[in-house]
Amino acid sequence: MTTFTRRNFIQKVAAITGSGYTAMVALDMIPAAPAKPLSLQGQAGKKVIILGAGMAGLASAYQLTKLGYDCTILEARGRAGGRVWTIRPGAKETELNGALQTCRFDEGQFYNAGAMRIPHHHTSVIQYCRELGVPMENFPNTNEGAYYYSEGKGPYSNKRIRQREIHNDIRGYTSEMLAKVMDQSSLDTPLTKEDKEKIIEYLMAEGALDKSKLYKGSPRRGFDVPPGAYSQAGKPAPLPSLVDLLQSGFYDPYFYNIPEYTYEQQNTMLMVSGGTDKLTEAFTKQLGKKITYNAEVTKIYKTENGAKVSYKDTTKGSVHEITGDFCICTIPLPVLSSIEHNFSSNISRAIDLIPHNSACKIGLQFKRRFWEEDDNIFGGISRTNMDITQIVYPSTGYFSKKGVVIGYYNYGSTAERIGNLSLADREKLALEQGSKIHPQYKTEFESSFSVAWQKVRYSQAGWAMYPQDVRDKYYPALQQAEGNIYFAGDHTSYLTAWIAGAFEAAHQTVKSIHERVQKS
Ligand code: FAD
Ligand code: ALA
Repeated sequence: MTTFTRRNFIQKVAAITGSGYTAMVALDMIPAAPAKPLSLQGQAGKKVIILGAGMAGLASAYQLTKLGYDCTILEARGRAGGRVWTIRPGAKETELNGALQTCRFDEGQFYNAGAMRIPHHHTSVIQYCRELGVPMENFPNTNEGAYYYSEGKGPYSNKRIRQREIHNDIRGYTSEMLAKVMDQSSLDTPLTKEDKEKIIEYLMAEGALDKSKLYKGSPRRGFDVPPGAYSQAGKPAPLPSLVDLLQSGFYDPYFYNIPEYTYEQQNTMLMVSGGTDKLTEAFTKQLGKKITYNAEVTKIYKTENGAKVSYKDTTKGSVHEITGDFCICTIPLPVLSSIEHNFSSNISRAIDLIPHNSACKIGLQFKRRFWEEDDNIFGGISRTNMDITQIVYPSTGYFSKKGVVIGYYNYGSTAERIGNLSLADREKLALEQGSKIHPQYKTEFESSFSVAWQKVRYSQAGWAMYPQDVRDKYYPALQQAEGNIYFAGDHTSYLTAWIAGAFEAAHQTVKSIHERVQKS
């Protein structure tokens, strides 16, 4: 008889449901970021040059300034924030291949092309918002009333279905199957009869099974005609069979709410009120003239006692050189890779060889908030296996007239493909595919602004990727100081693709520099 372990229970679940992933995710949890604000003691008057005014550069300068360091931030763009970029009317972008766009949204309309949501356990971000007086609010990362749309050949393919229907049907059928398995006396576990009864009781509640332990649908999955007054009892939507669901692709973990099960995407999810750039603004208000904008770093040299950096003023074309006792380089690796430097070969290799993910978003302004008015969708995300991948609805300004939805948000090879389309073709794709979920797209659309991060000059990617072999081989080099030059950014953390990663990395770097200075 096999012993009943957590692992073989997961295997059994996987055998029955086709996926043990959900259970496995819990085993891979990474610890939460520490909950304390950074608190270092001692004063030091050294000069630090910080390359990049993204979240890592801004937090580094903010903390070092508090400790009495003389900081200069060199920022290539005319704005701070880096991959925290809220697209507002008038925003301009010239992509690496020269395609230029200007945002024509109405005043007050915006979307976050980069960071948009903050997990409740990213305490470094929450702490900065608290400390700098930046309001946060809830980001509805899940919405049972938003849609799934599976393009395919199944009977429930090619039509939008409320997520609540799919979630409850999958829970129901899977629970029914498990209940049947638990009923079999031959089940190979040391569970007692009472244990099994408890599990069956749980499955009946979990799946909303009837007394015969069968799933026949339930009010949880919603109604075609909702319950109302007098004789209006509510008319349930037709129930797909298990086979229909399978053939229509909804058992694919991609569709089920597995993305929101993961540690980083669980509720409560937060966001910065009014756009993530409000966090950038709070930092720049503190740092003022310490930031030199339009300063494109072209050379980074370690020297005997510090660092020497050359940069080009991109508005005037003039070239400048500055020196410092220390340097913190937060420039994303794909950009850093073409900057002249005298780093050792292991650091150079890490900069050149760590792979990066492409990421694309498009903001679509509509004349009318039809998703709210017609479909009762207030924030959250619809998901699909079409290239657009997801539609993210605005979670502020409910009942106002216009709104901007994120018409696609994708990464990896899909983003690569979409980023290679012309701006006009990206808009066309977003509208064509999106209108299969919301036919109102066709008549209500006004204007778009798309960002393909791999084509954005001072980013050249969405974020670094660390499969285990890359983490083992290249990551350690970036944690070493190159003389007096340090590397920081979400790519020097285990929280890549998160602002918290940039903050944690900045804190680690500030601590290392300060410890060194205090010891010297
Ligand atoms: P960056 O923001 O890239 O900053 C680097 C800075 O260096 C930039 O300001 C850049 O202009 C500057 N620079 C580059 N080259 C030069 C040069 N030659 N000279 C001078 N300066 C230079 N995080 C979340 O927490 N929540 C989310 O929901 C989320 N969603 C995301 C969605 C997308 C599509 C993307 C792309 C990112 C998302 N992130 C999210 C990740 C988050 O935005 C980043 O992890 C974080 O902003 C990285 O900060 P950083 O300072 O390390 O790097
Ligand atoms: N952290 C990024 C997001 O939540 C990738 O979308």
